[in-house]
Amino acid sequence: MMTYSIYVVDDEKTAREGLALALKKGYNVEAFGLAEEAINALKNAPPDLVLLDIGLPGMSGIDALEEIKSRYPEIIVIMITAYEDVKTVVSAMKLGAYDYVVKPVQMEPLQVIIRNAIETIALRKEIQALHEKCLKENLPYIVGESNVIQDVIEIVKKVAQSPVTTILIQGKTGTGKELIARAIHYRSPSFKGPLVEVNCAAIPKELIESELFGYEKGAFSGADKAGKMGLVEKASNGTLFLDEVGDLSMEAQAKLLRFLDEGEYYRVGGTKKRSVRTRIVSATNKDLPGMVADGNFRQDLYYRLAVVKIEVPSLNQRRDDIIPIAKHFLVEFNQKFCKSFTGISSEAEAALNQFNWSGNVRELKNLIEKGVLLGEGQVLGVEHLGLDGNGRIETQKKTDEKNTLPRLSSSGIDYPSILESIEKDYFEEALKFAKGNESKAAQLLNLSRDKFRYHRQKLDTNPHGRTQTQG
Ligand SMILES: Nc1ncnc2c1ncn2[C@@H]1O[C@H](COP(=O)(O)OP(=O)(O)OP(=O)(O)O)[C@@H](O)[C@H]1O
Ligand SMILES: [Mg+2]
Repeated sequence: MMTYSIYVVDDEKTAREGLALALKKGYNVEAFGLAEEAINALKNAPPDLVLLDIGLPGMSGIDALEEIKSRYPEIIVIMITAYEDVKTVVSAMKLGAYDYVVKPVQMEPLQVIIRNAIETIALRKEIQALHEKCLKENLPYIVGESNVIQDVIEIVKKVAQSPVTTILIQGKTGTGKELIARAIHYRSPSFKGPLVEVNCAAIPKELIESELFGYEKGAFSGADKAGKMGLVEKASNGTLFLDEVGDLSMEAQAKLLRFLDEGEYYRVGGTKKRSVRTRIVSATNKDLPGMVADGNFRQDLYYRLAVVKIEVPSLNQRRDDIIPIAKHFLVEFNQKFCKSFTGISSEAEAALNQFNWSGNVRELKNLIEKGVLLGEGQVLGVEHLGLDGNGRIETQKKTDEKNTLPRLSSSGIDYPSILESIEKDYFEEALKFAKGNESKAAQLLNLSRDKFRYHRQKLDTNPHGRTQTQG
C-alpha cells in the first residue's frame, strides 16, 4: 500500500508535536514551526497534504497557502485556525484550501477530512498513472466499471488478438466507437502497421474509389500526374478504420464488397491487380440492419463487415459508468486548465446520475470540460455544470459570477486548449438547439455545413495515436 506524506506547520510546539505523533501511525509526517521552513522543504520532497496553521509568526498561513498553491496546485492544504480567526478561513477557502479545522484540534474529525482528501489524491494518482501508461504504450484507455462495458472491453481484447479481419462497431453517437476502434488497433499484435482512418461521410461519392484504392497517372482529369496510393494500401499490415460506414453510397458499397470478397483490387485507371493485408474495422451510429431491410445498405456487405460485431451501449444503459468517467475527465481537464478541483459534490453526482445523456460520453466529457474550464474552487458543483438537483440543464442560464475564464498567471495558461473548449461549447449548444441537425446547427453559427462538419471533427479529434484522418 502507498504511504502518503503530510507536513504539519504550527508554531505551537505541543500542538505540532501532538498532531505529528497522532498522524505518524498512518502517514509519513514532517513537522515545522515556520511556514518558511515548510516551503523550503517542499522543493526536495513535496508532500501530498499540508496541515497549515493560519496564525504563524513570520509568513502567515494565508500567504503560505498562496505560495504553496501557486507552485504545487496538486498539494491539498487543510487550514488550522484559532476560533477567533474563523473569518480568515473564508479567504483561505477562496485561495484553494481544501478544508479547515478549529483549534484545539479534535483528532477524529481531522482524520475523516484527511481520509477523504487522501481518497481524492489516490484517485488522481491512479488516473495519472493510467494516463502515463497509456501514453507510453499508445493505448487508448476505455473508462468504465459497468458489467456491460467490461464485456465490451473483453471482446475488444479478444478480437484484437485474433486473426479476424473485419469488425463492425455499432452504437449511438458519442458512445466511444472511435476509441474502441483505436483500442483494437493498438492491441493487435499481428496488425502492427499504421492505423488509417477514413470518414466515409466526408468523402464525396465520386472520389471514394480513388481515395480507397488509389489511381494510376492520368486516370482522370484533375488527378495527380504521378498517380496516388489508396488508403487501403496505406493501411497495409495495419488497420483501415471505416468510420460512418453507413454513409457509403451504393456504388462505393459495391466497390468495397468486391475488394473484401476477392482481397484484391485495381487502382482507378490501372490494370495491375494488387493485393493487401489489412484489418477492416468499421463503425456506424446508424441502424445498419434497418438500412439493409430498407434496401439502403447491401446485405452481403453488412455480413462481410460484421464478422465480429461489437455493440457499444448508450451511457443511459450503463449508469454505473457516469461518475467514473466524469472523474476521469475531471482529472484530465483539471490538469489541462491548471485548476484545483479535487472532486465532485454529492449533489452534482446525483444530478449527473439522473441526467438523460442523449449525447453519451461525448456530452458528459464536454460538460465536465466546460465546468472545469469556467469554474473555480475545489469541488465541482451543480452550479459549474449548469445542472439542477434533478439533473436537468437549467434552461435559463444565469451569468454565474463563479464562472470565469482562467486568468493569465506567471505559470502561463494553455491558450489553444481554452479556445478549443469554448468552440466546442458553441458547437455542442448549436447541435442541441438544432436537435442534432448539422445543417441547422451550422446555420446557427453562420458556418457552411462542410465547415461545420470539418471543425466539429477537428474539435473531436484526439490526436493520440492517429496516423491519418480524412475529411
Ligand atoms: N469509455 C470511455 N472512456 C473514456 N473516454 C471515452 C469513453 N467513451 C468515449 N470516450 C470519449 O468520448 C468522446 C466521444 O467518443 P468517440 O469519438 O469514440 O464516439 P463515437 O461513438 O465515435 O461517436 P460518433 O458516432 O459521434 O462518431 C471521445 O473524446 C472519447 O475519447
Ligand atoms: Mg466516431
